[in-house]
Amino acid sequence: MNTFGVKLRLTTFGESHGEGIGGVIDGLPSGIKIDLEFIQNELNKRKPGSKFGTSRKESDTIEILSGVFDGFSTGTPIGLLIKNENQKSKDYDNIKDLFRPGHADFTYMQKFGIRDYRGGGRSSARESAIRVAGGALAQIFLNEFNISVESGIYGIGKNYGDLMKADFEFAKKSEIFSLFPNLEAEFKKEILNARNSHDSVGGSVLTIIRNPPVGLGEVLYDKFDARIGAAMMGINAVKAVEIGLGVNSSKTKGSFNNDEINKKGFISNNSGGILGGITNGDDVVIKTHFKPTPSIFLPQNTIDKFGNEVRCELRGRHDPCVAVRGSVVATAMARLIVADMMLLNASSKLENLKKIYI
Ligand SMILES: Cc1cc2nc3c(=O)[nH]c(=O)nc-3n(C[C@H](O)[C@H](O)[C@H](O)COP(=O)(O)O)c2cc1C
Repeated sequence: MNTFGVKLRLTTFGESHGEGIGGVIDGLPSGIKIDLEFIQNELNKRKPGSKFGTSRKESDTIEILSGVFDGFSTGTPIGLLIKNENQKSKDYDNIKDLFRPGHADFTYMQKFGIRDYRGGGRSSARESAIRVAGGALAQIFLNEFNISVESGIYGIGKNYGDLMKADFEFAKKSEIFSLFPNLEAEFKKEILNARNSHDSVGGSVLTIIRNPPVGLGEVLYDKFDARIGAAMMGINAVKAVEIGLGVNSSKTKGSFNNDEINKKGFISNNSGGILGGITNGDDVVIKTHFKPTPSIFLPQNTIDKFGNEVRCELRGRHDPCVAVRGSVVATAMARLIVADMMLLNASSKLENLKKIYI
């Protein structure tokens, strides 16, 4: 499936080394002022080119092809396009017939019987730029309701920060979106060490949805946490997602884990803002874990498409730690989910419908 969402739907197309990547956002209400500069700024955060990411140079300039008139959304499909500018398919000639360990080469070949070896083809995270553009459009809608979404890095390799001290203002200024001023240098060192030793390193991202309305999430098979889980797991290289206390909640007692309530609201937020699959109005807290980049320059054992055992010796340009740019994609996916769930929730009560139709 290349389409995502129920009421607000994003369809994407394109490959890493094709002509370009693009998408269609359908279901965004009319009358929203579209801020192209904001969309471009969001794309610039994910853009390749820094020494902590791949050296592939792409301007990632977004073009809006349809669905916007006089600066406002028209309620019709919004067409998005980014042209690829810096494909170097020759770099991939030597791995044309073999499967990179840890990448999707093997499974795409088994499933489709066609090997687009140029930069990973459709399995490449190049596609995620369009998710970021779609997420930015969703955020412009969320701004109308004072809802925001932020992400940052809270762990690289074996270095993890204290989530209670996460500093999102610092993350905005940090080259690697570090949530901790005192750990930024350590995080950078981990990434550069991985790069210099021709290896890669994993990382973890904290995403917070601030000021979500109560009631988002469709019982029973489209729970808010289930949708968040699927959205984040759908990002390349994501291997685990946690909500609130997450994995650690299984190590606690109910007396600790339960969020007690008083007149002002929930006293703690171990639930991560979701109960019974429905948002409770507290911040939604999401942790997303990325594996190390599969493409590394150390020689590894693999097979070719004829079944011969061969050594895999890679060239090309790769992120040493995909969690860094992946954090921007995590923000985008959360934005798309919140906007979609808001549109879905609008018809959950008769009184809501009466406000429109009577
Ligand atoms: C922003 C981002 C950038 C990525 N860049 C690379 C890369 O440069 N090289 C690479 O081998 N994998 C990269 N990946 C990861 C692969 O796309 C991913 O691991 C691969 O498609 C296999 O899928 P899986 O890890 O989800 O099983 C990137 C992922 C993200 C989110």
